[in-house]
Amino acid sequence: MRIPMMAGNWKMNCDNDEAWDLASAVCDEVEDVENCQVVLCPPFTALSTVEEAIEDTDLALGAQNLYWAESGAFTGEVAAKMLLSCGCEYVIVGHSERRGRFGEAPETGELLTVFGDNDATVNKKVLAALAADLRPIVCVGETIAERQAGQTDALIRDQVKAALAHVKAQDTEDVIIAYEPVWAIGTGEVCDAKEANRVCGLIREVLGERFGQESAQEMLVLYGGSMKPDNVRGLMAEEEIDGGLVGGASLKAESFAELVRAAAEEKSES
Ligand code: PGA
Repeated sequence: MRIPMMAGNWKMNCDNDEAWDLASAVCDEVEDVENCQVVLCPPFTALSTVEEAIEDTDLALGAQNLYWAESGAFTGEVAAKMLLSCGCEYVIVGHSERRGRFGEAPETGELLTVFGDNDATVNKKVLAALAADLRPIVCVGETIAERQAGQTDALIRDQVKAALAHVKAQDTEDVIIAYEPVWAIGTGEVCDAKEANRVCGLIREVLGERFGQESAQEMLVLYGGSMKPDNVRGLMAEEEIDGGLVGGASLKAESFAELVRAAAEEKSES
């Protein structure tokens, strides 16, 4: 039985005061909700503040990125052990904004690379996270051009397989996959629930081929991309969708709490 998860990806929002207020408000709102793991992923600078705010609750802390080396001359990067020392249990890996998939160059259609993650670096980060006992939330998803070209399924298969290369069978329960179609992120254009369910099912199929059916059935597959209070129930009613990775709607405690409640309720009914 998979316990649903709602992870709030705060992206580059909230200074320490704002992070304290938002995290405390989320704690108050979801205090009585059972059957949903809530994860807050603030920017690095607010990790310790949020850790303090969620102390003594069932909420968990996550970071938005990591670097795979343990230490060294990597200016501006943060290692898994540093995240652990801030109280993190989770880390988002390979978000499309880190993969540099913000969009396409108007002239050439070439994908714009901003932060430079790719399938190989995502895999290194996943392995580094697992080695440090952090649970990676691994993001995969296609651009609108890839969808229109009929490449979605092949691309998702490739991204999942590449991200999980060399992951050991005993570590699978710590791996979470988030299907985040790039065209649905921050656009207000949510993926149709049936289609999101189909792709999440495809991801579970790949996990099954890689780690066996039994493990795949235990692993969490989330949906992310414009998840909001008015569309969350349709998504969460789908069998293969185990929760959400939420950007915009996680920045307001009330709306995020609605998502948490919807996940808990929809999954306890099924
Ligand atoms: P969104 O972002 O909910 O604002 O679309 C989701 C994400 O990028 O993880």
